[in-house]
Amino acid sequence: MIKEIKKHLKKVNDFHTENLSELESFRIEYSGKKGILNDFFVSFRDIPNENKKEYGKELNILKELVSNKIQSIKNSISLTSEMGKNGDLFRPGFEFDTGSRHPLSIVKNRIISIFSQIGFKLSEGPEIEDDWHNFTALNLPEHHPARDMQDTFFIQTNPDKLLRTHTSSVQVRYMENNKPPIRILSPGRVFRNEAISSRSHCIFHQVEGLYINREVSFADLKQTLQFFTKALFGKSIIRLRPSYFPFTEPSAEVDIYWGLETETDRRITKGTGWLEIMGCGMVDPNVLINCNIDPEKYSGYAFGMGIERITMLLYQIGDIRMFFENDLRFLKQFKSSI
Ligand code: PHE
Repeated sequence: MIKEIKKHLKKVNDFHTENLSELESFRIEYSGKKGILNDFFVSFRDIPNENKKEYGKELNILKELVSNKIQSIKNSISLTSEMGKNGDLFRPGFEFDTGSRHPLSIVKNRIISIFSQIGFKLSEGPEIEDDWHNFTALNLPEHHPARDMQDTFFIQTNPDKLLRTHTSSVQVRYMENNKPPIRILSPGRVFRNEAISSRSHCIFHQVEGLYINREVSFADLKQTLQFFTKALFGKSIIRLRPSYFPFTEPSAEVDIYWGLETETDRRITKGTGWLEIMGCGMVDPNVLINCNIDPEKYSGYAFGMGIERITMLLYQIGDIRMFFENDLRFLKQFKSSI
């Protein structure tokens, strides 16, 4: 009897097929109701007690072997048929394209993270604005000549609706709804009716900042800007050139000392070593009054910069139009985690 089992052990071991119906016949032959295993178990009853242990052990080995064999052949048949359907399952995977952030987003996020270190919170507002928030509240009354500085896209059917020309409009909205101290950063898309060239576009992005509290001074403004330029460009020599904005008094344009070490430095700074990067100033008291903030109690500073301009400087990009073309050969060069 043991010999008989051993014979089947060998037979099962040697069995192979790639065909499901052959496998099924094999299963029935061994594990079916009237199969070989069953016959063995039936005969088991008649085995003398002293031999039962040895016999049982061999029988269990056979039983196990049969079920393992069936399973492993099943697996290999299903794998082969999958391969037939889907090709080689062991081929290396396709390269996974992770994409990258737009350079303007990378620089915007860097600017935001620098100012957030010194307590600036984000505030955003609508791109379609009204006259009050974009101009009038900012000390630019209807016939003020400074409105010419910003050629505006008006919505034809409603002269009170326009595409914001700067994100200062967001600051007005914030001041109207919040009490000082105020420390906010307003990034966003702005629109100006300008001819498109390598240096200007009718759509671009700005980040503007506003700080209002008791006894805010021009020195605070300068310190903040120095902290910022050091963090973003690694350069903290700045100069403030007197300028004019209707909403700030005094106003200034900020230049950083870029240096004259390379040919590119010479070209982008037009041989001076200095580069203009933003506008700034102390918030005009008229603006505070328009937003219900008492200029006798509070003062503040504001600044604003174009993200395209800063990005062009940081990455030495020669044409602003590249930001809007979405050419993958350009965009793929910018990989960043923020
Ligand atoms: N709003 C100005 C512009 O768009 C920038 C600016 C902001 C200047 C705040 C001074 C203070 O050009």
